[in-house]
Amino acid sequence: MRAAVYTETGEPSDVLSVSEIEEPHAGPGQVRVAVRAAGVNPVDWKIVGGMMGGSAGEPKVPGIDAAGVVDEVGEGVTGVRVGDAVFGQAATGSAAQYAVLSAWAQKPDAASFEVAGGLGVAAETAVRVLDLLGLQPGQTVVVDGASGGVGGVTVQVAISRGLRVIGTAGEANQDFVRSLGALPTEHGPGLADRVRALAPEGVDGGVDTAGRGSVRDLVELTGDPAKVVTIADFGARELGVQVSTGGAGQAARMEQVADLLAAGRLELPIAGTFPLERIGEAYAESRAGHVRGKLVLLP
Ligand SMILES: NC(=O)c1ccc[n+]([C@@H]2O[C@H](COP(=O)([O-])OP(=O)(O)OC[C@H]3O[C@@H](n4cnc5c(N)ncnc54)[C@H](OP(=O)(O)O)[C@@H]3O)[C@@H](O)[C@H]2O)c1
Repeated sequence: MRAAVYTETGEPSDVLSVSEIEEPHAGPGQVRVAVRAAGVNPVDWKIVGGMMGGSAGEPKVPGIDAAGVVDEVGEGVTGVRVGDAVFGQAATGSAAQYAVLSAWAQKPDAASFEVAGGLGVAAETAVRVLDLLGLQPGQTVVVDGASGGVGGVTVQVAISRGLRVIGTAGEANQDFVRSLGALPTEHGPGLADRVRALAPEGVDGGVDTAGRGSVRDLVELTGDPAKVVTIADFGARELGVQVSTGGAGQAARMEQVADLLAAGRLELPIAGTFPLERIGEAYAESRAGHVRGKLVLLP
C-alpha cells in the first residue's frame, strides 16, 4: 500500500516520504479500514520529530486519526461489518491507504469522511476531560485553546451538557469561538482578570487544551487545582492539577460526539486537506499552532 513513512525521527518534511509498504491486517479486537481521510494532530509531528522519545528504526507510518470503510474485521469484534463507514484511532499509523483501528465509532451519515477523519482524538479527549471535571448543568467552565481541534470540540460537548463556556482564542478566532456557543476572550497574560469580568459569579472548572501556561490562572479562578484538567502541560501535576493522557473507554467517548454530530449539534471545520505527498506541509501548519478546526490528509 502507499503510505507516508519515516525511518528516523527529525524534521517531518525531511524524514517523511511516500513509499510502498506491506499492508497491516486486523488482529483480535481490531478492524482494518481503507482510509478515506486521516486527521493531523500535534502529537503526530511531535512523535515524528522525536519529541515524545523513541526513534523510528523500522519504517513507521505516522498518524492516529482515521476515517474509512471497514474491509477486515478482527476476531472477537462485534457490532461492525465489512463495508461500514467508521472513524477512530489507528494502531498502525493512519497516513496510509489502509490502517488498523484499535477504537472506533460509526461515522454519522451526515458527516463527511474529512470531518470524521479529524474527529477521533479530539472527540475522545474532549469527553474525557469533561468527564474528569464532572460539572453540572448551569455551571461555568473555561476552555483555554477553544479554537483548536480539542478545544473546539470540548466547547461544544460542554454546551450540549448545559454548561456555560468561556473559551480562549487568538484575536482572529474570537468570532469563531462565539459561533461555537462560548463567550470568547483572548488567551495569554491577564486571563484571570478577563474571565472574572465575564463571570463575576465565579468559575467551576477549567480545561487547558493548549499547554501554554494557563493552568495557574485556571487554578486561581476555580480556587482548587482538582477542578482544573490539562492535556498538554505535564508540569502542572506539581500544582495538583489533573493531567489527562488517555485511558480505556475511547469508543464510547467517540460515540457520544458522533451522536452530537449526527444531531447537527456539533461542527468541526476543516482548515485544509492535503495529499499524502504534502504531509510535511500539513505538519508544519499544525506546528505553527493556530489551526481553526482540523487539517486532514487524503491518502
Ligand atoms: N493528553 C492528551 O490526551 C492529548 C490529546 C489531544 C491533544 N493533546 C495535546 O493538546 C494540545 C492541543 O491539541 P489540538 O489538537 O487541540 O491542537 P490545535 O488544533 O493545534 O489547537 C491549538 C490551540 O492552541 C491555541 N493557542 C495558541 N497559542 C496559545 C496561547 N498562547 N495560549 C492559549 N492557547 C493558545 C490556538 O488558538 P489560536 O489559534 O486562536 O491562537 C488553538 O486553539 C497539543 O499539545 C496536543 O499534543 C493532548
